[in-house]
Amino acid sequence: MAGEPEKNILKTPALLEYIFQTNSYRREHEQLKELREATVKNYNQSSVMGVPVDEGQLLSMLLKVMNAKRTIEVGVFTGYSLLTTALALPADGHEKEIGTFDFAFVDAMKVDFKKYHEQLLKLVKIGGVIAYDNTLWSGTVAQTLEELHQNLNDHPSRDMLIKARNDTQDFNTFIANDPRIESSLVSIGDGVTLCRRVY
Ligand SMILES: C[S@@+](CC[C@H](N)C(=O)[O-])C[C@H]1O[C@@H](n2cnc3c(N)ncnc32)[C@H](O)[C@@H]1O
Repeated sequence: MAGEPEKNILKTPALLEYIFQTNSYRREHEQLKELREATVKNYNQSSVMGVPVDEGQLLSMLLKVMNAKRTIEVGVFTGYSLLTTALALPADGHEKEIGTFDFAFVDAMKVDFKKYHEQLLKLVKIGGVIAYDNTLWSGTVAQTLEELHQNLNDHPSRDMLIKARNDTQDFNTFIANDPRIESSLVSIGDGVTLCRRVY
């Protein structure tokens, strides 16, 4: 096998909990903690739509390393990723301005990702980064349709979930072959694909 599965160290839920408890929660900004807890309280199961704390911290680190000042986001929900971004920007940074952006975060409908990609390649400057969320779609991108049907069985949103998985697979293949960007599919949270515009 060409890959090296033993290097994928996140083998158990306990390991994720270890990361959260020993690192992520300890470093989470107070306002982000409040927002996360309010989202869980008000949205119950749907609160899972917000980006997880470890992914937020990766994005925050990336923004600071890039010295990003101008950012844009598609798919806000209660604003965990948006507040993460705002807290990582310098005092003269801006969100949601028309022009040339350093960073874009996309966390909306998967079927629209290719469309956003074309639009954002016009808005994000060369050297800037576009990040796409949920590109592993709960691991279903690596499952066969037969496995998916078995696993989802009587799930009320089965058809929508399978469609989104197919759209995600299609997008991942498209991104891996797009010469206008460099990309890395990071296995954090539900998968986040970082794309750096090269021309
Ligand atoms: C997964 S949630 C975003 C979670 C958010 N990034 C966070 O960390 O809390 C997706 C959001 O995208 C919104 N959405 C879906 N399609 C959209 C579109 N075409 N334009 C803008 N927002 C959209 C949904 O209403 C929902 O609030």
